[in-house]
Amino acid sequence: MIDQTAAWGALAAHAEQARRVHLRERFASEPERQARFTRSAAGLTLDLSKQRWSEETLALLLALAEEAGLPDAIRRLLAGERVNVSEDRPALHTALRLPESASLTVEGEDLVPGVHDTLARMETMVERFHTGQWRGATGRAIRHVVNLGVGGSDLGPLMVTHALSDYRLRDVHRVEVHFASTMDGSQLADCLARLDPETTLFVLSSKSFTTIDTLSNARTARDWLMSRLEDEEGVDAELVMRQHFIGVSASPEKMAEWGIAPDHQLAFWEWVGGRYSLWGGIGLPIALVVGMQGFRELLAGAHALDEHFRTAPLADNLPVLLALAGIWNVNFLDIRAHSILPYDGRLEYFAAYLEQLEMESNGKSVTADGREVGYATCPVLWGQLGPNAQHAFYQLLHQGTQAVECDFIAPLRRYDEVADDATRRHLKGQHRLTLANCFAQSRVLMLGDDAIDDEGPRPGHKRYRGNQPSTTLLLDELTPATLGALIALYEHKVYVQATLWGINPFDQWGVELGKQIAGETQRILEERRGLESMDASTRALIEAAWAADGN
Ligand code: F6P
Repeated sequence: MIDQTAAWGALAAHAEQARRVHLRERFASEPERQARFTRSAAGLTLDLSKQRWSEETLALLLALAEEAGLPDAIRRLLAGERVNVSEDRPALHTALRLPESASLTVEGEDLVPGVHDTLARMETMVERFHTGQWRGATGRAIRHVVNLGVGGSDLGPLMVTHALSDYRLRDVHRVEVHFASTMDGSQLADCLARLDPETTLFVLSSKSFTTIDTLSNARTARDWLMSRLEDEEGVDAELVMRQHFIGVSASPEKMAEWGIAPDHQLAFWEWVGGRYSLWGGIGLPIALVVGMQGFRELLAGAHALDEHFRTAPLADNLPVLLALAGIWNVNFLDIRAHSILPYDGRLEYFAAYLEQLEMESNGKSVTADGREVGYATCPVLWGQLGPNAQHAFYQLLHQGTQAVECDFIAPLRRYDEVADDATRRHLKGQHRLTLANCFAQSRVLMLGDDAIDDEGPRPGHKRYRGNQPSTTLLLDELTPATLGALIALYEHKVYVQATLWGINPFDQWGVELGKQIAGETQRILEERRGLESMDASTRALIEAAWAADGN
């Protein structure tokens, strides 16, 4: 295991001394520090100088990466080898963003033509919506598309459509995109209350097409359509099914069983993991908002980062450096909490997206070959828009007892395109205000009390210890391409960390038992018997639900 290697031992010994050095001392004694720890690629700039490390630390971490076989692991991932060992398949989200001119032969088949066929089918669908030709069963053009999916079949398109709202196509038939994921039906009920069944279409997004959350919402949506269109308007049920549903899944059989018309299915491959799937059919809502050209730019941005990941030396490789900073914090400085703090309202769902990407991938405690690890893996990762979090949990970051690694994310340019001069001036001022806050917060977290020239000693409640490590990630501007690169950066970071920890980031067996037990619990709730098998707490909870439901 990795913690038994000489490189790990050297890092542990080095950490003994390194952890005693405050970040303010590092900056005071190293004038070149910012330049030495900053790298750029694909429209992103990564400033890692506020990490609690030195060049010696980085050299030792790079040696650890070599010892873990990282260069070969990168090659294996991108070549389509079966890196997802528990499910015995490749993890080829990077194939979804290869340009049409590329080829990638995996186990005897070139995957690129199939990928681009799907993109072409998406394009045809998107075109039908944008020209007002996709009509509901009563002949009216579809105006609302509701994505029904959860986890990777929801968070990716939700996050990206929000992030790219400035790039919404304006000169096309307008289609509003909505998202409903929760199994309790509350988000869907909210949509149904506002939408007209004649002009509403549902996209059933589910890699497995077995997820109860999504299928429950889908059934409710189907009954809503049928009761309004078939019962009230007398429209043929088959026509309703055909005109009001699209399916996106790796299981064409299950989509067909559910009644999705074959030409309204977007199939994808088992080798695309759910939380890595926004780059194909699951991204249909994105293409509906920004158009296929915007979607292709998103893919191109991710591909540029893939190429950087494949070709840059480890010491200059953005995902590798980001991952190594995390490993240093988690495994050698015992910092087990990580906060994602975007300073741009359009990135509202970015932290939620990364929570799944990182914790569902690397929240594991056995190695890929089934041995219990003796070291920490994925930290607790959470986040919020930075400016809002300043008024919420930054108190803990500055003065709590918990050490937390922070990622500050911000676009350098913003609002250039706003036409009206006065509004642009104001909004640009607000952007500068936001950047000032972003830069100030990481500085205070780093320096603590030393960030300000002070009059003298302060009482305890006004003291800041500083020394909280952070990374600042600047986007030249937030475009489809830089967003694609940003997402790919974190995807590869996760893979690098998994490689060093020796775990498989592409499965998620930890979510299965809960699903199984929920099924049994649901049967007891519905049938009102079988309580004997329950523990006292769960028994009382079920009885409370029964009582509330009427006896
Ligand atoms: O239960 C976890 C999970 O399998 C995630 O990995 C996945 O993104 C989500 O559920 C939804 O799965 P599906 O796309 O198969 O409905």
